[in-house]
Amino acid sequence: MTCVNAKKLVLETGFTFDYENLVGSGKVTIDDVVSLEEKINDAQAAIQVMRKTGVIRGHLSKDGEPEKVLFSQLPYIKAENLNSPAIIRKLKDFSASIKDRVDAVISFGIGGSFLGNKVLFDIHCGEFWNGMSNAERNGYPRMYFSGNSIDPRRTSELVENIERMAKTYHKHAGKKFCLMMIVISKSGGTLDTMSNFMVVYEALKNHEHIDIEIVAVTDPNEEKKTLLKKLAEENHWPTFAVPDGVGGRFSIFSEVGLITGACIGFDIEAFLAGAKSMDEACQRADVWQNPALLNATLKYLAAEKYGRDIEVLMPYADYLKSTSEWYIQLLAESLGKKYDRNGKIVNYGRTPIVAVGTTDMHAQTQQHQEGALNKVIQFIRVNEWDIDPVIGDMFPSAQKLTDISGIRMSQALDVALASNAQALISDYRFNATFTMPKMNAFHLGELLYMLAISIAYEGELADVDAFDQPGVEAYKRIMGPSLQKLKVK
Ligand code: PA5
Repeated sequence: MTCVNAKKLVLETGFTFDYENLVGSGKVTIDDVVSLEEKINDAQAAIQVMRKTGVIRGHLSKDGEPEKVLFSQLPYIKAENLNSPAIIRKLKDFSASIKDRVDAVISFGIGGSFLGNKVLFDIHCGEFWNGMSNAERNGYPRMYFSGNSIDPRRTSELVENIERMAKTYHKHAGKKFCLMMIVISKSGGTLDTMSNFMVVYEALKNHEHIDIEIVAVTDPNEEKKTLLKKLAEENHWPTFAVPDGVGGRFSIFSEVGLITGACIGFDIEAFLAGAKSMDEACQRADVWQNPALLNATLKYLAAEKYGRDIEVLMPYADYLKSTSEWYIQLLAESLGKKYDRNGKIVNYGRTPIVAVGTTDMHAQTQQHQEGALNKVIQFIRVNEWDIDPVIGDMFPSAQKLTDISGIRMSQALDVALASNAQALISDYRFNATFTMPKMNAFHLGELLYMLAISIAYEGELADVDAFDQPGVEAYKRIMGPSLQKLKVK
C-alpha cells in the first residue's frame, strides 16, 4: 500500500475520484486505511477469485444452493462469456429489426428488470424523446416503462396515450401502429410486472389500429422453466436471457439492460468498453490506485468508525437522477443484511438516499449541512457537456441578473457543487466527487461498473453476502396469501 497525500485518483480515461473531503484530518485518516490493510488485501483477493471463477464465499441462491456470481464477466465480449459476440450480434440485429418499423415500445419490469433500463434511456434519450419526430429519433421507437409499480391511474393513462397515438398515426399514415411489449422478469412471474403487462395487453390486443409484438426477457433455464418462458414458447414470442449468475441489480450490463439500449440506438459496445476499462483499473492491488476498492474502503470506514452510514448519491445532472435510483437498489439490497457470513447478527448496511444538484440544494442540503452527522454526500460531476448555453444578459438594468450573465450553465453548476462541498466539509460533513469526463455510453459504463464492483468489495470488508436479498421474502410471504384471499372473495 503506497502512502499517499494525494487528494484524487485520476484514471487514464479522465474518470476521477476526488476524495479530498473524505480523507484527512477530522475525516477518514490514512492511518485508518493502513490499519485495514489485511482486510483490504483479502477483499481484493476474494474479488479476483470471483472474477476468475464466479465463486464468492458463502453466497447461496434463494433455494439455498451455492450460486456463482458472474456479473464481472459481462464487460468482456468473448465467445465463452455471457456477453458473447453472438449475443451482441443478436442485440444489434434486434435493434435493426425495430428501427424504422416499430412505433413504440413498452418495457415492463421492476427492480433490477427496470432501474438500469431507465438509466440507459435517460442518458441516451433525455426527457423529450417521446415527443420527437421519427427522424429526430433516428427511426428508433418511442419508449415507455411500466410495471415499476401497480398504479391504476398511470397504467390506464399509458393505455390511453398509446390509443391516442395509434389513432392519430392511423389517420395520417393509413396503417396500423406497431407496438412492441418487452416483458422483463428473471423469475418470470413478478406481480408488478405481470399485472401491468396483462392490463395493457388486454386493453390493446384487439385494438383496430394497433399491431402488437411481444418479446420476453427471462431466465433461460430449460429444466426449470419460468412462467414467462413457458408463455413465450406457447405464443412463439422471441426471447432474450437474464443470464444465470447475474442478479437483477447487476443486470444492466447483460441482455436485460442492453435490450433497452438496442431499442434506442444506444452504443452498447462503448458502454461495455467503459465497464471493461473500469474493471481493469479496479484490479489494481494498491488500494489508492483502485477506484472501487478505495471507494468501498472509505465508505466502510466512514460508516463503521465515524457513524456515517447514510450515503446520499447526488449527481449534478438531471438525467443522472435515475442512476441514483439504480444505486439505491444496488446498495440497499446488496449490503443491508441482518447476518454476516458466519451467521452473526450485524444489521449491516448504509442507507442510500437519492438527491440531485442543484434541485436538492433547495431541499435536502439543510439536513446534510446541519442534521445528524451520519452521512457521506457522494457527488457526481460531468466535466464536459455536449450542449452548454451561455446565460444571456437579458435585463441589463437588473444588476443581480447581469451578474450571472456571460457564464456557461455548466460553470454555474460546477460553482454550485464546489460551494456545497466546501460548506459541508467546513463542518466535517464527509463528501466526495466522482467526475465523468462526458455523459456518454463509455463513461456511463465506467461509472456504473465502478459502483457495482465497489459493492462487491464492501461485501467482503463487512463480511456480508452482497449477492442475496433474503429480506425481501418477508413481505412476499404475507402478500401472497393476502392476494389469494382477494381472489376467493
Ligand atoms: O434485485 C433483484 O433481484 C430484484 O429487485 C428483482 O430485480 C425484482 O424483484 C424483479 O424481479 P424479476 O426480474 O424476477 O421480475
